[in-house]
Amino acid sequence: MTTPILDFVRSYAESGTARFHMPGHKGTGPLGCESLDITEISGADELFCADGIIAESEKNASELFGSYKTLYSTEGSSLAIRAMLALAISDTPYGERPLILATRNAHKVFIYSAALLDFDIEWLYPKAPSHICSCSVSADEVRNAIANMDRRPVALYVTSPDYLGGMCDIKGLSEVCRQLGILLLVDNAHGAYLNFLDTPMHPMALGADMCCDSAHKTLPVLTGGAYLHIAHSASRYADMAKDKMALFASTSPSYLTLASLDACNAYLDGEYRGALSYAILRIDKIKALARERKIPILDGEPSKLTVCIAKCGYTEKQFRRMLKESCIEAEFIDSDYAVFMLNEKNSESDFSRLEGFILNLPLCEDIKKEAPIFSAPRQKISVREAMLARSESVPVSSSVGRICATPSVSCPPAVPLVISGEVICEATVSGLQALGIERIQVVKE
Ligand SMILES: Cc1ncc(COP(=O)(O)O)c(C=O)c1O
Repeated sequence: MTTPILDFVRSYAESGTARFHMPGHKGTGPLGCESLDITEISGADELFCADGIIAESEKNASELFGSYKTLYSTEGSSLAIRAMLALAISDTPYGERPLILATRNAHKVFIYSAALLDFDIEWLYPKAPSHICSCSVSADEVRNAIANMDRRPVALYVTSPDYLGGMCDIKGLSEVCRQLGILLLVDNAHGAYLNFLDTPMHPMALGADMCCDSAHKTLPVLTGGAYLHIAHSASRYADMAKDKMALFASTSPSYLTLASLDACNAYLDGEYRGALSYAILRIDKIKALARERKIPILDGEPSKLTVCIAKCGYTEKQFRRMLKESCIEAEFIDSDYAVFMLNEKNSESDFSRLEGFILNLPLCEDIKKEAPIFSAPRQKISVREAMLARSESVPVSSSVGRICATPSVSCPPAVPLVISGEVICEATVSGLQALGIERIQVVKE
């Protein structure tokens, strides 16, 4: 597979051309990568009107992912999500407010998109109390929810995989969405690699209409590198997609990140599948060891190991300390779970270190605790009104009855317990306090 962007930046770096253009480092500096960091000079194409090397590279990515069209983002899935939602609501008849049905474990970028694009949200909550990152819904639940709605949503928006590795039944959901004539949009930020498994589990393979992938999260791509994939079923949106991306994006995309996405195509087309398949076997071995030792772990996507630390008898602080002593850094730790993201780029010594940690982890008595749960607060004003209103910071303890202005949430996992425009209730306060959140931004009265 060709790598036109990488080839271009490399040959420009080697050409010795005098740089009377941006960026200001002029190709030299302390990082060592400055010579490859260019701007839209002649021949370098333009990300949002691509017809040269970027268009060729995006076409390569589209072939790899089996999409109708794939667009690059150098500003993460955050940008791809805004564009995807802007495309989806473009079908709303003039004068009507767009409505999206979404699972409540949405990343905060979804809420920010609602503020920017001014759409309404109907939330789907998990049936059983679950961690705020998880919200598994079945195809039947979606069908019933839509049957009971006064207004028809333009799309169903789900997060799969979620931060803990939980996955939705994308195939089942896509069938329901197709029958009901609404789009299925997937926040697949954590799942770019799913396309390359022996049995692909990527949303494009399972019937989603559009999805975002943070290439940088699971593939060897620089931070910020991401895709917006548009399936053949949603080809009618493809012509508008670049404009919607441009609406929210910087006019100075990073060519380092573009070159990294480009180089990744050749890797995905070459040795990747074999390397991934081997890594999954290796990860499965660590999971099997955990199960053998009765260490509770979650079922879910193949590349994540999610250890239920509270059930192992550890507090967040204790577990963090133990990991630090073992020279291991996890992706995410809270009072319930520790999430490890593994892949083929981890060395055998990384795998062995984690394996050793699991092997020697003493099991203590389960810390029984009430996890913060979604309390389904009432939406009083729109997300946009609340987010753009004058606001003030108040202690969470005295926020009952106030309207949330900005979601108080830490990143990761960036899943808010209360959303802009919702009225804060007692249950929300308990949940926020359980998450260690002490202050919240509310709409000024
Ligand atoms: C579920 C989910 N969606 C979207 C995003 C945003 O992705 P990015 O950081 O690539 O903009 C994240 C980031 O952590 C995420 O976890």
